[in-house]
Amino acid sequence: MRWIDHARWIAAPQSFGEICPIFRKAYSLRGRVREAFLQVSAKGIYEVFINSVPVSKDLFAPGWTNYHSRIQFQEYDVTAFLTGSSFHLALHAGKGWYGGRLTHHIYQDRCPSVIAALFVRYADGTDEVFVTDGSWKVAEGPVKFSDIYDGEVYDARINFSKWFSAEVLPAGTEILVPQEGPPVREQQVLCPIALFRTPKGEAVLDFGQNLTGYVRFTVTANVGEEVRLSFAEVLDKDGNFYTENYRSAQSIIHYFCRGGEEAYQPHFSFQGFRYVRLDSWPGEPQLKNFQAVVVHSDMKRTGYFACSNPLVNSLYQNVLWGQRGNFLDIPTDCPQRDERMGWTGDAQVFCRAASLNFNILPFFRKWLHDLKSQQQPSGAIPRIIPNCLAPEDEAPAAWGDAAVICPWQLYETYGDPQVLLEQFDSMKKWVDYIRAQGTEEALWNTGEHYGDWLGLDAEECSYTGRTDPYLIATAYFYRSASLLCKAGEALGKDMSEYHRLTEAIRSAFFHTYQRGNRLTSDTQTAYALVLDTGLAEEPAAAVFAARLAELITQNHCHLQTGFVGTPCILYALAEHGYPELAISLLLQEEYPSWLYPVKMGATTIWEHWDGLKPDGSMWSPDMNSFNHYAYGSVADFLYSKLCGIQPLEPGYAQIRIAPLFDQRFDWVEASFQTQFGEIYSGWRKDREQWVLTVHVPLGCKAEIITPYTCQTVDSGTYQIEVSMNP
Ligand code: BGC
Repeated sequence: MRWIDHARWIAAPQSFGEICPIFRKAYSLRGRVREAFLQVSAKGIYEVFINSVPVSKDLFAPGWTNYHSRIQFQEYDVTAFLTGSSFHLALHAGKGWYGGRLTHHIYQDRCPSVIAALFVRYADGTDEVFVTDGSWKVAEGPVKFSDIYDGEVYDARINFSKWFSAEVLPAGTEILVPQEGPPVREQQVLCPIALFRTPKGEAVLDFGQNLTGYVRFTVTANVGEEVRLSFAEVLDKDGNFYTENYRSAQSIIHYFCRGGEEAYQPHFSFQGFRYVRLDSWPGEPQLKNFQAVVVHSDMKRTGYFACSNPLVNSLYQNVLWGQRGNFLDIPTDCPQRDERMGWTGDAQVFCRAASLNFNILPFFRKWLHDLKSQQQPSGAIPRIIPNCLAPEDEAPAAWGDAAVICPWQLYETYGDPQVLLEQFDSMKKWVDYIRAQGTEEALWNTGEHYGDWLGLDAEECSYTGRTDPYLIATAYFYRSASLLCKAGEALGKDMSEYHRLTEAIRSAFFHTYQRGNRLTSDTQTAYALVLDTGLAEEPAAAVFAARLAELITQNHCHLQTGFVGTPCILYALAEHGYPELAISLLLQEEYPSWLYPVKMGATTIWEHWDGLKPDGSMWSPDMNSFNHYAYGSVADFLYSKLCGIQPLEPGYAQIRIAPLFDQRFDWVEASFQTQFGEIYSGWRKDREQWVLTVHVPLGCKAEIITPYTCQTVDSGTYQIEVSMNP
């Protein structure tokens, strides 16, 4: 039932300005309550209380969607709250993702505003519904200012003496939809590992982990004394607090004390940080005054990986932290600077690894619904979902391809065709959009693209790697068109037209971008991409793989790739005859490499290979996030190549276990929780042989492939010895 449809949107008087309102109304109950449900939403974000007790542990509800067309509402069972003969319902609201610097240019409606309906069924079988309307009262709350980017100002000295009538707003055109994604919740608490003075003399807390969430503190102070906290991910080369890479995001928590012993945590903002500077603190701070609360969307952990190399283990942990930090209601590029947005390209490259680490199906389905809702009639989608740019924004190649790649990836990992059913039209529209772009149907050789974003072979002062952006665009066109064929066939559709299209793209691609044995962009990214997308077939694939290997070797076994080349390069090597080189790249410890940041003390994945240079200096503050999950896509190589767990059928009903044995590891192991149960694959060195252990869950069949054997098995646990010198 949608009782919320009977409620009205209400707001505080305009004179409240930046102050976050508290809405309230007291109600009498006619009798004993058998059951009661509360439906609630906001333009902004809300906290909801009955008799001053929080109704739920959800944070940042109703979540971030394309508010123009969809705003989620939450429903809570509140039966246990209604035990007396009366109650009061209160809503505290901030701007969140609806207003503030992030999106105020997009949403013109009054913000924050709230809407709620409380349904009661009495023991005598009669019903009553209490709704927000003009009879509600509103007062200025203690949050004097809140902004996702800039933090929060809280005045604990407040007394709620002045109540105003809430203003009823006219109904908008947006639609309230039941919550789709998992709620955002507090997930874990970290204690600081140090409190120290920097060379500049500033007091700084170190939580030992770059994370997303907020600081909870307790303080004993006189009335009006101030706590002011600033946040940072890293220290500069001199060991001083460094915030330049947050760009314009202030990320400041400013708290005015009530006097006495008090505790606080922010209500409507979150920060991405490892270090916290105590700009102002009454008295002597102690470690026990502080906790960092890690906040993200609820996701069940499904994948595990470990090996004998501690640096690779740290890399893997950093990938997990990157996911925790950036899966806060939508998949974001980063959680700290003045972006924190649903960049499609980032989500697309990380989707596979993310889907193995945690169950992200409900989380991504919600985001894909927004993607679909913002797709234009031409099939173009904005580069950020929910869109924060112009409504007609058109994503470039590899970013817009999220429309196809993400739904397919969810289907491949979880085997649930629902996501394909929901997204198929949108996937097809995206491919048809590309078809209409180029100078000919099978090429995407027009428009502006990010190319191999942040590729290291970029020209001086450019963010775009050297690989021809049109070569990349056409290769991605091929990838999306071929995945569309697979998706259509999984749904029982005739995809012959799109099969013809993929073949046309293939031939146009090589006609345009191949000269003899080389590609017109003779770069790591170009070869990695033609191999990983399946564009290159044998015998050409072998030639390209050899060239890729040669380029890497000439570069002393270092990457030069950016957002596009990096997720492909290890696969391209491992699947085309160069598994040892793939592992060498993975294990490279010098800059640029995956392990270089680990050696520099990273606890998350960096946006730039050289975010922090060996001498401690930084890449430009302009684009230097230390929590950017894109390069964390490497985690899926650990599960699916190093440990060899691969789906032969979507949802892992049939699997292949084909590990890469390598002398540089003593042991590796990974597991993945599928709908059938856990798959495990691990191998270890035992004198002159590898010992491979595989677990295949019930209802699942596996092909186990070692360098000299191939066998098909049913569920069970298997141990296979593989000689190193047959
Ligand atoms: C974001 C990226 C994003 C890119 C696109 C950046 O500002 O942080 O991760 O994909 O812009 O150009």
